Amino acid sequence: MCGIVGYVGSREATEVVVSGLQRLEYRGYDSAGIAILNGGEFQIRRSVGKLSHLQQRLQEAPTHGHQGIGHTRWATHGGVTEVNAHPHRSASGDIVVIQNGIFENYLEQKGRLIEAGVVFESQTDTEVIAHLIERETRASGDFLSGFRRALQQIRGGNAIVAMHRRQPGLLLAARLGNAGGIVIGLGEGENFIASDIPAILDYTQRVIFLEDGEIAIVTAEAVRCERLDGTPVSKQPQTIRWDPVAAAKGGYKHFMQKEIFEQPRSITDTLHDRIDVEGGRVILDDLRLSDEQLRAIDKIYIVACGTAWHAGLVAKFLIEALARVRVEVDYGSEFRYRDPILDERTLMIAITQSGETVDTLVPMELARQAGVPCLGIVNVVGSQAARLSDGGVIYLNAGPEIAVASTKVFTCMVVAAALFALKLGEVRGCLDRATLRTYLQALLALPNQVGTILQQTAIYEQLAERYRHTRDMLFLGRGINYPIALEGALKLKEISYIHAEGYPAGEMKHGPIALIDEEMPVVCIAVRDHVYDKMLSNVEQVKTRGGEVIAIVNQGDSAVRSKADVVIEVPETLPLLSPVLTVVPLQLLSYYCALRRGADVDQPRNLAKSVTVE
Ligand code: F6R
Repeated sequence: MCGIVGYVGSREATEVVVSGLQRLEYRGYDSAGIAILNGGEFQIRRSVGKLSHLQQRLQEAPTHGHQGIGHTRWATHGGVTEVNAHPHRSASGDIVVIQNGIFENYLEQKGRLIEAGVVFESQTDTEVIAHLIERETRASGDFLSGFRRALQQIRGGNAIVAMHRRQPGLLLAARLGNAGGIVIGLGEGENFIASDIPAILDYTQRVIFLEDGEIAIVTAEAVRCERLDGTPVSKQPQTIRWDPVAAAKGGYKHFMQKEIFEQPRSITDTLHDRIDVEGGRVILDDLRLSDEQLRAIDKIYIVACGTAWHAGLVAKFLIEALARVRVEVDYGSEFRYRDPILDERTLMIAITQSGETVDTLVPMELARQAGVPCLGIVNVVGSQAARLSDGGVIYLNAGPEIAVASTKVFTCMVVAAALFALKLGEVRGCLDRATLRTYLQALLALPNQVGTILQQTAIYEQLAERYRHTRDMLFLGRGINYPIALEGALKLKEISYIHAEGYPAGEMKHGPIALIDEEMPVVCIAVRDHVYDKMLSNVEQVKTRGGEVIAIVNQGDSAVRSKADVVIEVPETLPLLSPVLTVVPLQLLSYYCALRRGADVDQPRNLAKSVTVE
């Protein structure tokens, strides 16, 4: 969502800040701005729309200086206007602030400031922070004390960075709650601040993360951390081993295309070092749950959002079938507002690519408060979800996912869930070695099988041409492929803007069948498993009503082939692992449909990569 970058050192700050913002473009935003401090004056440039608009502005009116902050905004309070874009200034113009997150009691604080005579320029909550810091800086006579005192009056989840024009060389950054992370990049004679690691990876790999309620006092020479009350905190720098080049498009037209095609590699990386086929064992070194704890679990709650929630639904099938533990899958945004039963035999599993999705982080926090361990299935190393996962983290190792629509991370999430289900099944005595070996071999075959699917793209180009004017599409699946029907529909709607619905195929007759006519293409996932015959009947029902069937089948299938209009083949694997293969054609279908319709594939309208607000 909003992106934050800060710099202090000897380079041109504008270049560092803008290049950092560029690296954060994937998060999605609607406006951008920077403030550079030079000679006791702020040079502020802001603009609505893409970063290129801000860059254009900077060409017309360049900024110079060795210290600055920048922000990409995704509007929450106040419309998408230049005045609402960050940075925001305090009344005297002494202080500039950028913020990511939501300031819950801003109206109350704003009211008080207005009563005291402050005139507001924007409708944002961030401007309130600038005025609050100014008021408290005046009252305490010192910027750092003023910053601390202002932050103590803020309720919410925020990442905040501020500069004072009479305090050159100093940047203050803070993290409150879980809505926005702050990473400090450590350099030689220079230091960096960012909301996300990619923003600073071109400059340094040594970082420290701020925790809830911590402030970083950043100069070119040093970084000091303390709590909001001023107590010093000593923090251990970590080294991030991402290669910045890995985040570039690598010859593909879009990041989404690249990420779809990277799946053989990303799945391999998720499996790497975690499989011992000979021994029939899964090795999950980062699991912080003892075998005894795993045996004692009698209920698992999976929390996640969007695509990760679909991976959670697949995980439910895997865990129930392989480890015989009851699983409930919740939307993070729902879990937090109901009254779930959490006890000492419960485990929470949080599935999240970014590890920063606030709707997923809050249930994790609730679990922590109830003493329920939480296992994270997470892609971004060091993210908040990873740090909240006291039961351990299964990192996906999928590398950065830049396209807003999630693809490679979904298949890795399913693979990670399968690894955990096998481990749990092994520990609980549900699986013998021979069965485990069969699953492990099947897992190891997946990267190559996905590669086979990726070799045939002509069919999707033809389908995209055929359906370029289609308004609606239905996706049907059963059993473990029912979540794949949901995922196929989500992918199509979010990037091509074709309205799509996913359903368990058995539900079709209870309502959606009314929609079927010649205008309604229906994607049916009908691989060989225990519900194959049922899917075959569903295909027939669609055909009888004039619908057009696009069937995803196993190689060599003849029964569905004889009925469907279009057939897409995927290799055969164990039925419980089939989602890793059946989802790939649906990713390709949505990619080519979006491409054919001229949509902005990597940054679909209204969407953001990392949703750090409620
Ligand atoms: C859809 C998509 C979203 C995310 C969701 C959760 O393509 O990417 O639905 O899956 O916003 O994000 P994470 O996994 O970062 O928690």
